[in-house]
Amino acid sequence: MNVTVRPARSSDAAAIALIHRVTWRLAYRGVLPDEYLAKMRHDVLMERWRELIAGRGARDSVWVADRGGEVVGFAQSGPSTATDLEPGFAGEVYMLYVHPAHQRQGAGRRLLAEALEHLQIRGFLWVVIGVLEANAPARAFYRRVGFLPDGFRWFDRSGGGRHVVVRYAKALNSLLPARDPA
Ligand SMILES: CC(C)(COP(=O)(O)OP(=O)(O)OC[C@H]1O[C@@H](n2cnc3c(N)ncnc32)[C@H](O)[C@@H]1OP(=O)(O)O)[C@@H](O)C(=O)NCCC(=O)NCCS
Repeated sequence: MNVTVRPARSSDAAAIALIHRVTWRLAYRGVLPDEYLAKMRHDVLMERWRELIAGRGARDSVWVADRGGEVVGFAQSGPSTATDLEPGFAGEVYMLYVHPAHQRQGAGRRLLAEALEHLQIRGFLWVVIGVLEANAPARAFYRRVGFLPDGFRWFDRSGGGRHVVVRYAKALNSLLPARDPA
């Protein structure tokens, strides 16, 4: 069944929270501390996503992948928060997660394409993504869709750990005519 990507609605918050929790617990098991992953609560995540989608985080965009009426993945993007980059030029994909039962079926690629197109429309010239170095499948995915490591690395300290994050980057096609974001 085909995947369509659309902007998230507040009513998607429960599905997004579920995917957020289940993918973190699987993808980061053995990487982030067990106690940290165990403490991820559905109700807390759901409320955070509901507020973000409802507009408190209006500078960010949240997209969902919908397969036959079921939300199977989501992406969140916006201006890059990187401190070494000149503000206004780089967009960032903060999060990209596809439910384990729906991975490797094109949803991640579709979500990313939508997020990138929107960042380009907003005038960003390139896009960055931080990936845990230990997350080899995600790094393979980003390479497959045209990202390369840009050499910037830092530590994620979630749960009191020290986990290397590698930044991947990709140019957005600035030769295309800009479109009205409205
Ligand atoms: C990484 C993730 C977002 C990719 O989404 P997806 O829907 O599974 O990937 P797609 O089906 O769109 O794959 C696109 C391409 O990337 C490649 N790819 C996807 N997952 C891969 C993996 N685990 N290993 C190697 N290559 C992979 C595929 O080969 C595919 O190319 P192809 O269709 O030409 O064969 C998804 O698998 C996921 O949520 N993983 C767990 C959480 C995570 O690590 N998120 C990223 C955090 S930075």
